[in-house]
Amino acid sequence: MPELAAHVRDVPVNQIREITEAAWRTPGAVVLSIGEPGFPLPRHVLDAGIACLDRDETNYTPNAGIPALREAFAARFREEQGVDVGAERVYVVSGAQQGLHFAMSLLLSPGDEILIPNPGYPTFAMTSRLLNAVPVGYPLHPDHGFQPRVPDVEALITSRTRVLVLNSPSNPLGAVLSEDLVRELVEEPAAMTSG
Ligand SMILES: Cc1ncc(COP(=O)(O)O)c(C=O)c1O
Repeated sequence: MPELAAHVRDVPVNQIREITEAAWRTPGAVVLSIGEPGFPLPRHVLDAGIACLDRDETNYTPNAGIPALREAFAARFREEQGVDVGAERVYVVSGAQQGLHFAMSLLLSPGDEILIPNPGYPTFAMTSRLLNAVPVGYPLHPDHGFQPRVPDVEALITSRTRVLVLNSPSNPLGAVLSEDLVRELVEEPAAMTSG
């Protein structure tokens, strides 16, 4: 067994998985830990997947994804969110975690700091540690509706801070950030880009 890189020992354990696996081992336990949809995969989605396999569409695609799929995501984003990103800015990934990992690995150098919500989704800290970066939690208080407070976030910014993670709706808190607060948080921390 090859020795693991030293920094990998600092990657925290994913407690969601620990709880889930304990629940799976416990007869009669109701698993509430993983955010699975409460309905079966819709038939038309299943049929589309099966049709792709029947056509032997099983080979490499362009790295960023099949062009028609990128167009479809861009169109949906435009229609539902009112944001025109253009298909050339869409990069297809296998779920949110892979997208987060890509984004963080493109932005963080070893030793850089990343501000993450506390309490927050466990992989924010895990992925940071895996990239040899330093996760720093900004507090979320119930008496403030679990919304980040700009002064709390600003107080944590150092010359090594590179990334601010905003999670809305929050997992696990469910809090939704207001548009004004997001604008303030995104525009405010000039120190992060100039450092
Ligand atoms: C905040 C947050 N980030 C990332 C993920 C991982 O998402 P995915 O399963 O699409 O990789 C989840 C899943 O629940 C999540 O809640």
